[in-house]
Amino acid sequence: MTYSVLLATEKPFSAAARQQVVGILEQAGYAVTVLERYASKAELSSAIAGAHAVIVRSDIIDAEVLAAAKELKLVVRAGAGYDTVDTARAKALGVAVMNTPGQNANAVAELVFGMLLYVLRGRFDGKTGRELRGGSLGLHAFGAVGRAVATIAQGFGMKVHAFDPFVEPSALEALGVTPVTQVEQLYERSQYVSLHIPATPETRGSIGKALLERMPAGATLINTARKEVIDEAGLLETFAARADFRYLSDVAPSAATLAELEAKYAQRFYCTPAKMGAQTEEANVNAGLAAARQIVGFFERGERRFIVNA
Ligand code: 3PG
Repeated sequence: MTYSVLLATEKPFSAAARQQVVGILEQAGYAVTVLERYASKAELSSAIAGAHAVIVRSDIIDAEVLAAAKELKLVVRAGAGYDTVDTARAKALGVAVMNTPGQNANAVAELVFGMLLYVLRGRFDGKTGRELRGGSLGLHAFGAVGRAVATIAQGFGMKVHAFDPFVEPSALEALGVTPVTQVEQLYERSQYVSLHIPATPETRGSIGKALLERMPAGATLINTARKEVIDEAGLLETFAARADFRYLSDVAPSAATLAELEAKYAQRFYCTPAKMGAQTEEANVNAGLAAARQIVGFFERGERRFIVNA
């Protein structure tokens, strides 16, 4: 049987990554369709109609798109977060959903420090800034990105703490990271907190004033995770209450919050103009190729590793 695979990336991979992804799938004998920079859900729904598998990035695969995908067996999210895929609906329809964990982690971790250095050095305005060495960094979750951030932070000479109830404290200690068992402790001990939690019903709106007001002087929150985990009202209250608080984000808040932050707190707020975390050549290649290989493994060898909706 000839499988049809759709590469649907509203935000395209680099040309080299796309070429290699298509190459792996064609070598397996699959028919590949590429849909990039599409303008509407209707376009995606029409392209996915005959596909047996689809590779996506942050593209929205909701119930409506799934309903149009009559042949679909597998969705691979080339990346970590799969909050843009209706995994429950997919499961009900017998469609497996996978991610490619860790493949773009280094790109995201490097961006954490790119944003931090840029802002701590006054956006390169020529005035005296601050260094990272000796600072305390709290990692809110210690998955692949958290780990990569920890390694780089140690290179900068930072003290690293982490809160992750799913990771054994001994595993953190083995990497020179101090575990904390209560999330409040993480914020109390960390001048810088970097968010690496997924957007789930439990985490949505969970980062607000109650945690942020605990941070020591020079408090800086860095969000390369998801905008949904922030309680935006609480974020604005924190900015109003603390003249030292900074927020650096690769995931833009809602339009109203963004406008208020830019109007009132521009000196202490930075947001990338577009989501940049996974936008490196290396991450495109790593995540794209992993996705293509996982599709071949699934159809040819029944491999089910990385399924997130089993
Ligand atoms: C992820 O979850 O892997 C990152 O947020 C990257 O998302 P992107 O592929 O849409 O850039």
